[in-house]
Amino acid sequence: MKKTLADINFKDKKVLVRADFNVPLVDDVISDDNRIISAIPTIQYLLDHDAKVILLSHLGRIKRSEDLKKYSLKPVAKRLAELLGTEVNFVDEISRVTLQTAINSLENKQVLLMENTRFADLENKRESNNDAILGKYWASLGDVFVNDAFGTAHREHASNVGIATNINESCIGLLVEKELAMLNKAIINPERPVVVILGGAKVSDKIGVIDHLLKVADKIIIGGAMSFTFLKAQEFNIGKSLIEEDKIELAKQYLQKAIGKIILPIDHLMSKEFVDQSGINSTDANIADDYIGMDIGAKTITLFNNYIKEAKTIIWNGPVGVFEMKNFNKGTLAICETIAHLNNVFSIVGGGDSAAAAIQSGFKDKFSYISTGGGASLELLEGKPLPAIEVIQDK
Ligand code: 3PG
Repeated sequence: MKKTLADINFKDKKVLVRADFNVPLVDDVISDDNRIISAIPTIQYLLDHDAKVILLSHLGRIKRSEDLKKYSLKPVAKRLAELLGTEVNFVDEISRVTLQTAINSLENKQVLLMENTRFADLENKRESNNDAILGKYWASLGDVFVNDAFGTAHREHASNVGIATNINESCIGLLVEKELAMLNKAIINPERPVVVILGGAKVSDKIGVIDHLLKVADKIIIGGAMSFTFLKAQEFNIGKSLIEEDKIELAKQYLQKAIGKIILPIDHLMSKEFVDQSGINSTDANIADDYIGMDIGAKTITLFNNYIKEAKTIIWNGPVGVFEMKNFNKGTLAICETIAHLNNVFSIVGGGDSAAAAIQSGFKDKFSYISTGGGASLELLEGKPLPAIEVIQDK
């Protein structure tokens, strides 16, 4: 068991908190602040326990100097201050004297957010390559490390693994604790039947999940573009839909290994172009030669919903159609609605696109849990250890 906030006395301590504030930003406007909201309980706990809170996070991917302006954490500091109802001292540095002076002048119950940790990537990807000197330096800025960045837990970077290996005391935060409890509840001794819904573009992104969850799930429903590789493996016509040729053999193996367990679309909404225009419902699982499959069809919605209604545990990762296009979001919305109206079911939504769909559907509160982690929740569902959690001290 990893140490949690309750295991540490934070009074008068400089507490380094790794959060995941990797939020969508357009021209400094945050379009989804769910990750910031999710970080508040840990920050508030530390303030209530007389700590000096120093927040670290990455934002976006920094490849060239133009990215520095685009990915500053300054807008996050503003939103955080609003949510906490207290001042957040934003320091536009990730090292140097200005940062150290600001940290050393922090008083108990004060919050500081330093600039995007990935600004260090401009020089030999020091953050993302877990540069030993950088991890040690950041660790030297505080007394205790709290990892509450679930969304980044699958990464081995200087600001999580690097700090944790170079500091005296470490623990997980409240968000990480909740994410682990919820995701594990769905895969370790879950209530049956367990129905897994997988969507999104690529089979290759979900191979590990399919592999691991075939042992756990009673049914695996596959929609979205990844279903076309499976349909092709069964020799259906998939028209102009994109598939992964090199994964057809693997799809065949899964279908043979799990006879009756993998449920695929039986009709589709198709379009001649990959654009947001009204689609045509196919008559069966075949897609006409010059068409692209854009969403699941009406018969598939009923088929999928019938399995979903029987479930006691639901794990959902990835939309079943081109959700961002209004004409092709019906399948995904129908799934949201069906799950939302179920009673006595434990339903978890992996992060990324399916989390956005669940939130936009207006049924956010009807799901048992919506994860803040995209890649991290997938890796956990694959049964892989998360390096940034592994490195935290045990009780
Ligand atoms: C995410 O959004 O999945 C996490 O913040 C990790 O970001 P990354 O994929 O850029 O490492």
